[in-house]
Amino acid sequence: MTPSMADTVHELNEALTPTRLAMSPVAYVPTMGALHDGHTELLRTARALGDVVVVSIFVNPTQFGEGEDFERYPRTLDADLARCEKEGVDVVFVPDAAEMYPFGIGGGPMIDPGPRGTVLEGASRPTHFRGVLTVVTKLLSIVRPSQAVFGEKDYQQLVLIRDLVRTLFLGIGIVGVPIVREADGLALSSRNAYLTEEERRQARTLSRALFAGRDAAEAGAAAVMDAARGVLDEVSEVDVDYLALTDPELDAAPEKGDARLLVAARVGATRLIDNVGLTLGEAPSDIASPRGAAG
Ligand code: PAJ
Repeated sequence: MTPSMADTVHELNEALTPTRLAMSPVAYVPTMGALHDGHTELLRTARALGDVVVVSIFVNPTQFGEGEDFERYPRTLDADLARCEKEGVDVVFVPDAAEMYPFGIGGGPMIDPGPRGTVLEGASRPTHFRGVLTVVTKLLSIVRPSQAVFGEKDYQQLVLIRDLVRTLFLGIGIVGVPIVREADGLALSSRNAYLTEEERRQARTLSRALFAGRDAAEAGAAAVMDAARGVLDEVSEVDVDYLALTDPELDAAPEKGDARLLVAARVGATRLIDNVGLTLGEAPSDIASPRGAAG
């Protein structure tokens, strides 16, 4: 069936009224569109979780910094709607900025992400998570799902959204989905569309470095960092912003146990991020954490 389209909060409420009256669980996937197979995995997860699946497509201006790619961010609405239809999405919410920001962009209250929002991506993009958490709070208030689905591709975003739900007692389940990759390891991203053929080849370095780090996990944190750094150093065109090994909550540098290795780098004009789960000091087969296995 063709999904219902809602451009306004009012239309979305109308589309969801029967669902709410029946108290049917809603599973929700927020996106900025330009949907690819990574998003599809989120749609399928939501389809399995909820009676009714809602997807939003909104390129959120407040999460882009000055000089970033807000204007040229890919917008592929027709293809996105076709993909939603194919995956059995029930309602697609496509608001405009005036609907989402009644006080104007940057007017009205904004959500402060707290200390975990200042490291990694937050250090390089100081206003980014404020914009993300603000729009996600709005969207969750509008859709009121029982569960919302996010990708581990944006790992710090996922951690901060879990913090948000706890802080504001939103009572919504946050479901994380492992990263979907191209056959050669590159994490799928809407921004991969910016890469030239040459840059596309260089971009593989990020996942290669992360996998090399993961393969060294048994030997400990220093070995992980050395292995990953070694791969990144091989390709001078890959301009590394950060390579970091943290605990899964992004709080501390761990010596043992579950950890996350995260990288951000510029390839040409395009900034890419990627991450991998691993278990330090243990053979991967001894403790197979779902996150570690997720790749
Ligand atoms: P967007 O970049 O469109 O991503 C929407 C969701 O898809 C996010 O949860 C993201 O982590 C997930 N995703 C993207 N690529 C993925 C991949 N290769 N594998 C698995 N999941 C992947 O993230 C945003 O939009 C925005 O910040 C948003 C949360 C919608 C707020 O504006």
